[in-house]
Amino acid sequence: MPHSFNNYYEPFLGSGAVMAELLYADSTMLFPHFEQAYGSDILPFLIEIFNITKENPKAIVDHYRKEISEYYQDPIKKYDEIRDRFNAAHNPYDFVLLSRTCYSGVIRFRKADGYMSTPRGPHKPISPETFENRITFWHNLLQKASFSCESYTESMKRPKEGDVVYCDPPYTHSQSIIYGAQEFNIDTLWKMIAECKERGAKVMLSINGMRDSKKKDISVTPPDGLFERKLFVNCGTSMIDRLQNTGREMRDKKVDDQLLLTW
Ligand SMILES: C[S@@+](CC[C@H](N)C(=O)[O-])C[C@H]1O[C@@H](n2cnc3c(N)ncnc32)[C@H](O)[C@@H]1O
Repeated sequence: MPHSFNNYYEPFLGSGAVMAELLYADSTMLFPHFEQAYGSDILPFLIEIFNITKENPKAIVDHYRKEISEYYQDPIKKYDEIRDRFNAAHNPYDFVLLSRTCYSGVIRFRKADGYMSTPRGPHKPISPETFENRITFWHNLLQKASFSCESYTESMKRPKEGDVVYCDPPYTHSQSIIYGAQEFNIDTLWKMIAECKERGAKVMLSINGMRDSKKKDISVTPPDGLFERKLFVNCGTSMIDRLQNTGREMRDKKVDDQLLLTW
């Protein structure tokens, strides 16, 4: 990323891992420096977690403490209770609990009806004290960020000269079951990136690259001239493979994402 820029946009926010790195670097006076971070995603209960953590962290800490104490007593029964409650009302508090208790932390929604279907994980979820420490840490980081629930087709209309946009869309190769990617159209994304570039914003995109340790090319082909640079980023073993091959050894299953940059 450039050493300094005006605003940072992340239109496919997910867990906000990249934005968190940036906010942390900025808070410790490391590069890069920027004015404001804007995160957005299509999932309302995900965006609400960021807003609650920023505005009212105690609410989410209290919910986690109460529910996880009960989970420790009877994990199987409690997991079903939390998942049923989430599926009935899609509330952010139970979404947080599911992300800490479900298998590998991977949230899957059933294609047919949107039901959150990931089974329970065998691990012991983090203690309420550890959770509170993490929420406090994020609460401080997020003061320079704001969040909105909207599609990238809206949020990507705003970046302009001097801004940076990082896109990590649902990949076209294998993630439809996880993110509901069936409605995701890569041609629309190319158009939105081209418009950001025309307005003077710098855009980075991570997307399918190679899998099976560079033996299989699963890359997508962007329009000519849209990107100036292409890097490969070794992402280790595929998250999807880990989920689907529990307990089996996975040799030759490394995934390399492409990182494309418009400058
Ligand atoms: C590959 S994940 C992003 C992961 C993220 N980089 C992280 O650190 O966790 C893709 C995200 O895009 C979101 N998404 C899917 N379709 C979208 C759309 N039309 N507009 C905005 N976000 C969308 C999904 O909800 C999901 O959180």
